[in-house]
Amino acid sequence: MENPVDRKEPSNNPQAVIFDDVVQITDEFVVTPWEVRGRVDYDKLLRHFGAKPLTRDEIALLEKYAGEVHPLIRRGFFYAHRDFDVIMKWHGGGRPWALYTGRGPSGPVHIGHMVPWILLKWLSDKFNLEVYFQLTDDEKFFDDPEMRLEEATGWAYENALDVIALGFTPDKLHLIVDTKDIKPLYPIAVKVAKKLTWNTVKATFGFTDSTNIGLIFYPSLQIAVAFLPSELRREAVPVLIPCAIDQDPYFRLARDVADVFGYPKPATLYSKFIMALTGESKMSASNPDSAIYTQDDEKTVRRKIMNAFTGGRPTAEEQRKYGGDPDICPVFHYHMLFDPDDASVEKIRQDCRGGALLCGECKLKLYEKLSKFLKEHRERREKARGKVDDYRISAKLR
Ligand code: TYM
Repeated sequence: MENPVDRKEPSNNPQAVIFDDVVQITDEFVVTPWEVRGRVDYDKLLRHFGAKPLTRDEIALLEKYAGEVHPLIRRGFFYAHRDFDVIMKWHGGGRPWALYTGRGPSGPVHIGHMVPWILLKWLSDKFNLEVYFQLTDDEKFFDDPEMRLEEATGWAYENALDVIALGFTPDKLHLIVDTKDIKPLYPIAVKVAKKLTWNTVKATFGFTDSTNIGLIFYPSLQIAVAFLPSELRREAVPVLIPCAIDQDPYFRLARDVADVFGYPKPATLYSKFIMALTGESKMSASNPDSAIYTQDDEKTVRRKIMNAFTGGRPTAEEQRKYGGDPDICPVFHYHMLFDPDDASVEKIRQDCRGGALLCGECKLKLYEKLSKFLKEHRERREKARGKVDDYRISAKLR
């Protein structure tokens, strides 16, 4: 029998080289689930992956059912999807669905990771949905030659605090720490693994002869969670997966194999990356000053913001005369992500362009917003300490 995942549509991006799904656009940018480099062209990436841009009609469907549209969607930060319209209509028909996302626990959480989770919480509240959240300590152990397994599992517990701190209760949030909660996942993962050939995963993830077999098997585990709600409830419970666009290769495969087992295809909602404070497309773990971590103290947050790259002019005089460029500015980008008030964000944009707002002042405004968010977050995070096991799926399936 032909393997469904080998029937791939060819890439329609003539410039893309090397792999089918792992985009390596010559001399421009690279996006894989493990690496993002260069200035990302999001439209090009979308065309290459074959996901769809989020249209006004789809946003209107969300508004119809949620009563409003979250600023992260309104402002185009979440910009693409697979079958978002289909899951909205499924919801309209009164049928059950769930949310799924995850984190590879390789170290502390930065605010780039938090952004999809903020939308996750909003969706869970608006639609009264359960959330399946995978913490892939196995993936990070396989991927990083220096990482000890105990260390990755430790980070899974630490990172779980950041997720719980968003305000989830144990009846709504189901944590899956891969090495601890494998039991419900494993039967699904082996079925998925049987349908994924070496040819497919090699082309999709760029694996080579020296990739360890743990990492080669791993995609079946990330895919398995997409089918877990259907398996547990013994009925079709499709998931919506909010995440950044780098995770699309997994879910494209998940959608390819779903039919074979009679599972509903997962839907996805993709964000762009939060810009690094250095102005690059994505923050880098090897440069801690490129990102703000949820556990950075106030002094560190302030220093990082005040040292950030901006779209401003070299001198205050030139800034007043010619204005700045908010489109390339990480400081403006963060205002957009963390200020729910459209009028306030628009004023910052206009004042920057017109030269009325200088970078120092704009950075201070951002510091005030972010330090308030982080202070409250840290308090809730500490309250969650010791409670992670109450949220783990195994505790509930016993
Ligand atoms: P990880 O830990 O690399 O990333 C966790 C989540 O954060 C998103 N993300 C970002 N979003 C905006 N701006 C950034 N700069 C940024 N960096 C990362 C990622 O897209 C992801 O949503 N293999 C996964 C773990 C995982 C998962 C999942 C992720 C397991 N199941 C289901 C999403 C959905 C990983 O290592 O994610």
